[in-house]
Amino acid sequence: MLAVTEPDFLRDTRVSYNAMAASYTEHFKSGIDDMPIDRAVLAVFAELVRRTGNVDAVDVGSGPGHVTEYLKSLGLNIFGIDLSSEMVALARGMRPGVRFEEGSMTALELPEGSLGGVCAWYSTIHIPDAELPGVLSGFRRVLEPGGWLVLAFQSGDHVQHYDEGFGHALSLDFYRREAAHVAELLGAAGFEVYTRTERGPNPDEKTSQAYLTARAV
Ligand SMILES: C[S@@+](CC[C@H](N)C(=O)[O-])C[C@H]1O[C@@H](n2cnc3c(N)ncnc32)[C@H](O)[C@@H]1O
Repeated sequence: MLAVTEPDFLRDTRVSYNAMAASYTEHFKSGIDDMPIDRAVLAVFAELVRRTGNVDAVDVGSGPGHVTEYLKSLGLNIFGIDLSSEMVALARGMRPGVRFEEGSMTALELPEGSLGGVCAWYSTIHIPDAELPGVLSGFRRVLEPGGWLVLAFQSGDHVQHYDEGFGHALSLDFYRREAAHVAELLGAAGFEVYTRTERGPNPDEKTSQAYLTARAV
């Protein structure tokens, strides 16, 4: 029998989010209600996807699912995928009208060219630099030409390791990236960057935030 070994970063990310899923969900329970820029970027993304005529979409790294639910309310036929079974269970419990599945953005089991939209909202932040080009190519593979990708992430150019969060032991890396760098990677993966938005940190945030929308070419 062939033994398939999971990369350490995926195992560590899953175990960390499983441990803190309930605390994380409670802490961020207001979701994007107090985030006008987030809602605006997501609304632009949803409209761009609707205009393609293919509203099938996926939210990768959906966590508690508030972004998935918001995009669904904006007319997308969207479901969430998350690495953490605990996050998926919580999202399903809180949002019974939305579909959530366990899976990894590093191996999307979706037909090539099938989607009008891919959303990765603060989830590529746990993908190591060496793996990110492959993940972006995977997003391009599942999108039809003309389909849309939206990314949100913290700005910066360093990695932060957390071994504790909300009182739980973790082993979780956060990759801060500059929007210009991610835009270059998107170009190499078969995307054309359409909007680039940056905002300063809110009082409870340590970094500026970056949001990119890109068209699959
Ligand atoms: C910072 S949370 C963001 C959750 C949600 N998108 C939000 O904005 O609230 C990151 C989420 O991405 C998930 N995640 C991390 N790596 C992943 C991967 N390779 N595939 C799928 N989900 C992943 C984590 O389990 C976690 O739920």
